[in-house]
Amino acid sequence: MKVTIFGTGYVGLVTGACLAEMGNHVVCVDIDAGKVERLKQGDIPIYEPGLEPLVKGNFAEGRLAFTTDATPAIVHGDIIFIAVGTPPDEDGSADLQYVLAVARTIGRQLDRYAVVVNKSTVPVGTADRVRQAIAEELTARGVTVDYDVVSNPEFLKEGDAVEDCLRPDRIVIGSDSPRAIAAMRKLYAPFNRNHDRTVLMDVRSAELTKYAANAMLATKISFMNEIANIAERVGADVELVRQGIGSDPRIGYHFIYPGAGYGGSCFPKDVQALERTAHAHGYEARLLGAVEQVNHEQKAKLFELIQRHFGGQLAGKTIALWGLAFKPNTDDMREASSRRLMEMLWAAGARVRAFDPEAAEETRRIYGDRGDLVLCEHPYDALDGADALAIVTEWKAFRSPDFARIRGTLATPVIFDGRNLYDPAAVEEAGLAYYGIGRGRSL
Ligand code: UGA
Repeated sequence: MKVTIFGTGYVGLVTGACLAEMGNHVVCVDIDAGKVERLKQGDIPIYEPGLEPLVKGNFAEGRLAFTTDATPAIVHGDIIFIAVGTPPDEDGSADLQYVLAVARTIGRQLDRYAVVVNKSTVPVGTADRVRQAIAEELTARGVTVDYDVVSNPEFLKEGDAVEDCLRPDRIVIGSDSPRAIAAMRKLYAPFNRNHDRTVLMDVRSAELTKYAANAMLATKISFMNEIANIAERVGADVELVRQGIGSDPRIGYHFIYPGAGYGGSCFPKDVQALERTAHAHGYEARLLGAVEQVNHEQKAKLFELIQRHFGGQLAGKTIALWGLAFKPNTDDMREASSRRLMEMLWAAGARVRAFDPEAAEETRRIYGDRGDLVLCEHPYDALDGADALAIVTEWKAFRSPDFARIRGTLATPVIFDGRNLYDPAAVEEAGLAYYGIGRGRSL
């Protein structure tokens, strides 16, 4: 099929590459000419396992094209995806200006039936606004063209995005148009070969599904962080509690890992946006507010542990950080817990030496060159001259470290384990003090 995708960010680029891989002819449009040029050269702006060969291969085969020119791209697409950003505006609502700008561009060019698909995470009611924006442009041109607007939210996880896209656990399609549903079914048929994963629904339910999924996952995390905070006070180990409850299939083992708080481009933004949507409709979503509040406080947790350990005297201390990205297998620093930690450490007069397998460049871009931040090439370099080690992201490379070497290098042998990677007894046996999240029994 002929597909056009507006936006070559995370969702747009991965979707475009995967649809091309399935044999479709995909044109990706972006207003950033530099980015389009780089993509044509096979230079992928994000770190995502498996994406580069998919983009390069399909580009070379002529199934994937990149352009800044919307006009031929709109003429090309039978299905036109909108996958541009929806950053939070000042009150936390999703800012729809980019989505609606694309809708107007489509309305100015459309000359035959097309299915317009909202792939971006957009508040309930956005499909109606997209439909309206296209209609206004068509009216201004004095033409009548048939089109449908469909909601088809994306559920990719960074780091697993290609896998999630090629092997989705569900394909949510929100539409009441048989013609649009038929087109979407045809597009997704290759993804549904073994069993049909399509969940059909009306547009608004599809829009809400996306927020409900992310809010539910964020709730599980904040819930566990709350249990960790209780465990710490009552002398229990949250890691044992986690195993004890996860074995109940109604609860499950996924997304109940306590830690230094959730980050990324989705959970913080989407929980807030859903809360704003509820508020705008006269409902106060108290649970969502609490989920956010717990997470906000959890991001300060490592700092508090470090500060308490050093008796509030952090000026002149150097803290080594392992992990900067908001989670492993990405270089994404958006809303990363490491940012809050570093900023609090700097404000207290401490210095940071940090190692992350992928996010150093992004960290440098965000914070620039500053005397109190050294980005290291190797995990153990970060320990040189440091007083303590804090684990912020659970990269696999940090799972079985050489504790004797850590002990020998740190000025004061202490680990603050923000992701509960280690067995407290093993760390203490190696002669290091250990602090985890919610591990009351070990304190
Ligand atoms: C999330 C969802 O998991 C995807 O399903 C969704 O499609 C995506 O948002 C989106 O809306 O685009 P992502 O933000 O890539 O994906 O990352 P996650 O793997 O969900 O992790 C989010 C954060 O939660 C990370 O900071 C991670 O460290 C934290 N987390 C996760 C925990 O603290 N504990 C857990 O048990 C799990």
